[in-house]
Amino acid sequence: TVERTFVMVKPDGVQRGFVGDIIKRFEQKGLKIVGLKMLQISQELASKHYGEHQGKPFFEGLIKYITSSPVVAMVLEGKDCISLARGMMGATDPKKAAPGTIRETFGIDIGRNVIHGSDSAASAAREILPSF
Ligand code: CMP
Repeated sequence: TVERTFVMVKPDGVQRGFVGDIIKRFEQKGLKIVGLKMLQISQELASKHYGEHQGKPFFEGLIKYITSSPVVAMVLEGKDCISLARGMMGATDPKKAAPGTIRETFGIDIGRNVIHGSDSAASAAREILPSF
């Protein structure tokens, strides 16, 4: 099935200069960029995007970090692209991510893990910004 997924290069990925490398990987895999923009995430959008993590011990730090400096958000389209993009990112914790994955290559720790990608079609529908 042709799907769309929401992918976001997080503040650490933008600041450390990995946007181009990350986009290149998705393009090389044949995924189509159907939306792309740099934005500063507001407190409100952050709480909405990460609503499912509310109440967890890392929630406040996560919101503080994701709103700390600009992110690069994109919508990718392609066959089974939700799971494909997730696979390319690797496990949430860069220390546990498979060799060669985005998080294993560029990530520092579970908080500063460079990138976010929708984990399901329902998440993608919720996460794709209305402005896309
Ligand atoms: P992401 O895929 O964007 O979705 C939720 C984020 O919460 C996750 O990536 C991590 O960056 C962050 N996260 C998850 N677990 C922890 C944790 N134990 N400590 C800090 N951050 C976490």
